[in-house]
Amino acid sequence: MASVTLEGVRKIYHEGGEHVAVAGVDLEVADGEFVVLVGPSGCGKSTTLRMIAGLESISAGTVKIDGRVVNHVPPKLRDIAMVFQSYALYPHMTVRENLGFALKLRNMPRAEIDERVSAAAATLGLENYLDRRPRQLSGGQRQRVALGRAIVRQPKVFLFDEPLSNLDAQMRVSMRREIARLHQELAVTMIYVTHDQVEAMTLGDRIVVMEKGHVMQIDTPLNLYERPKNRFVAGFIGNPAMNFATGTVVGGDEPRFIAEGGGWQTALPRRLASRLGPASGGTVIMGVRPEDVSVVPDARNGATIEARLDLAESLGNEVFVYARADEQDIVARVSPQPMPPLGSPITLAIDMERAHFFDPTSGERITSGASHPE
Ligand SMILES: Nc1ncnc2c1ncn2[C@@H]1O[C@H](COP(=O)(O)OP(=O)(O)OP(=O)(O)O)[C@@H](O)[C@H]1O
Ligand SMILES: [Mg+2]
Repeated sequence: MASVTLEGVRKIYHEGGEHVAVAGVDLEVADGEFVVLVGPSGCGKSTTLRMIAGLESISAGTVKIDGRVVNHVPPKLRDIAMVFQSYALYPHMTVRENLGFALKLRNMPRAEIDERVSAAAATLGLENYLDRRPRQLSGGQRQRVALGRAIVRQPKVFLFDEPLSNLDAQMRVSMRREIARLHQELAVTMIYVTHDQVEAMTLGDRIVVMEKGHVMQIDTPLNLYERPKNRFVAGFIGNPAMNFATGTVVGGDEPRFIAEGGGWQTALPRRLASRLGPASGGTVIMGVRPEDVSVVPDARNGATIEARLDLAESLGNEVFVYARADEQDIVARVSPQPMPPLGSPITLAIDMERAHFFDPTSGERITSGASHPE
């Protein structure tokens, strides 16, 4: 087991002009921790992981494993195992042979190989498939063999790069559980790359949100959700995404948020308005999660917004309501309830205690509503 430390780690590619793929990552992964790197395509997740693995040279900064700088240590001496999206199993070998192959290359005694392979097969529920070849397995079973090949090596650190993205939705959920269980059982350090925020939220002890080579926030799943550091994180984590509206905060006895254009406004709790303090009077971006918007039967002065129903998507247990208030699209996530015909007027209420406010220029969070612990 090991800690992994990144200090100012950068990656610059020089093919066809200078391209900064990773702009400087500082990260400390504790021994036994599960850290997930998440972000949109091209943000530098795989490049970061590959620098930790030693598969990519490091342009600047240092990578340490267990306190030792490994910048120039070849991958096979870093004591890590990596599991990729495309797990190339050896097609002509049985599952047993696939699992034991890396150990055989190390000239490990036969008995010890057998022991490790059996243990890994038991952990992954592969005991009944040991004599099959990869083509005789389902996608999920193959992915488990790929995991098993990493497990038998008993590495200090596991690195995963989108290991589940080739699987169908149901299989992804069950493999996700498998990986969580594996982490608990082996208590080993894991770094996991995905662009799937549900995987990130459910697996990570902590999550690193990246965008265009930069780290946007490193935090626990709950903190990312409750107190996003900036507008990017706020919009990236959560589905449907957070609603954003540009507008002005007016203080005084009856503080309110007035949407740009003045087409709608809503009252602000006084405590929140005072926390917004200096931003009052200026332009801000308000963020509201869909679950904090509700559809209400009657208009209440200052507390509700008049909108038009654009679309209602029923998922059975909940409904995503897409509405438009003046120039503003608003999504609400509500429990199943009768909806008027599309195009009808509806009344929305925003739980302003749960609103977030961001600086329109920098995108940084100014404050979050009273019910988000600071
Ligand atoms: N060999 C290379 N030469 C030049 N640029 C590269 C090279 N490899 C990656 N890049 C660029 O570096 C950036 C980061 O790539 P990376 O593969 O780390 O992204 P990612 O976050 O893993 O994305 P995805 O979710 O699509 O896998 C991208 O803009 C990519 O085009
Ligand atoms: Mg990638």
